[in-house]
Amino acid sequence: MADDIDWDSLTFSMTPTDFMYMTTIQGDEPWKPGQIIPFGPIQMSPAAGVLNYGQGLFEGMKVFRTSKERIVFFRPEENARRMQRGADRLKIPPVPESIFIDAVEQVVSANQKFIPPVGRGAMYVRPLLMGSGPVLGVAPAPSYTFLVYVTPVGPYFKGGVQAIELLISDVHHRAAPGGSGGVKAIGNYAPGMKPSKEAKAQGFAEIIYLDAKTHTYIEEVGAANYFCIKDNVLYTPELTGTILPGITRDSTIQLARSMGYTVIETKVSVEFALAADEAFCCGTAAVISPIGSITHGDVKSVYGDGTPGSVTQLLYTELTNIQKELSEDPFSWLHELPSHV
Ligand code: PLP
Ligand code: COI
Repeated sequence: MADDIDWDSLTFSMTPTDFMYMTTIQGDEPWKPGQIIPFGPIQMSPAAGVLNYGQGLFEGMKVFRTSKERIVFFRPEENARRMQRGADRLKIPPVPESIFIDAVEQVVSANQKFIPPVGRGAMYVRPLLMGSGPVLGVAPAPSYTFLVYVTPVGPYFKGGVQAIELLISDVHHRAAPGGSGGVKAIGNYAPGMKPSKEAKAQGFAEIIYLDAKTHTYIEEVGAANYFCIKDNVLYTPELTGTILPGITRDSTIQLARSMGYTVIETKVSVEFALAADEAFCCGTAAVISPIGSITHGDVKSVYGDGTPGSVTQLLYTELTNIQKELSEDPFSWLHELPSHV
């Protein structure tokens, strides 16, 4: 019940809401708009492609109540396009952008009472696209389901906007060249659970993954992209196909450049990262999370005094001010929930 939610204690966890959206197609037939139905369990064949072979994708975006009393999505068209690229990679019929946008608008509209008040969290929108029909051989499923659910969320990392401690893994990789690291395939995430749990047991917030080929360059942080700052210049790993092209990453690059910073997309070696002045990771869930320290083997590099660096803080404030409409939106990133949905 939305009335029972304590908006100030929200974390990044699942609170059931009232409605979800679902549409299903057979084979190659065109996608058609779906329906809003009560949120709850769905029926699926035990032989569903997604259950047996992981033929599925997810997306994640946020919706905010703003200081102008509007309800806005942050760049949902980018999520629609990324899901289309993922669908192409996993041999799933891509959902047209118009159906994707209509779906997310409808679910948010139906669950409006679960959108946190301005500045006290966001509604997280989770679209799923999966092979839902039965298939025994390793092949594309005969039918597909596009589903969207939502939930109110607070900060992704424990402790909110505090600098996090990260561990570089020398053992595990997230993605390899030619694989699926560049799209949001559901199968990319389960292999990260063991390294992440092990790192958390040692007191770290997450793992930093290195490239699988040379083990020398930073790729990303669990489920967020990596940035560091050296002499007032921002560096972030270039997109090589193994890194997820984060929408927050792209927004941060645009924002930093508009504020006069130089941003370089390049290979970022561990050595360079450990010697940086500041570092942060960013994503829809993570927003912009300052990194207080990075540990690699016996070496621990602490940034500044372990509290958020000034450039990181500036970018965080500017990004969240745009989302709350406390600052102008010069990039037209906000997509208002239409009143007629
Ligand atoms: N990297 C991975 C592996 C992710 O799962 C995410 C989250 O979506 C990101 C980066 C950040 O992407 P975005 O900013 O689009 O949320
Ligand atoms: C996101 O930032 O939207 C993510 O998908 C991160 C994580 C919850 C998987």
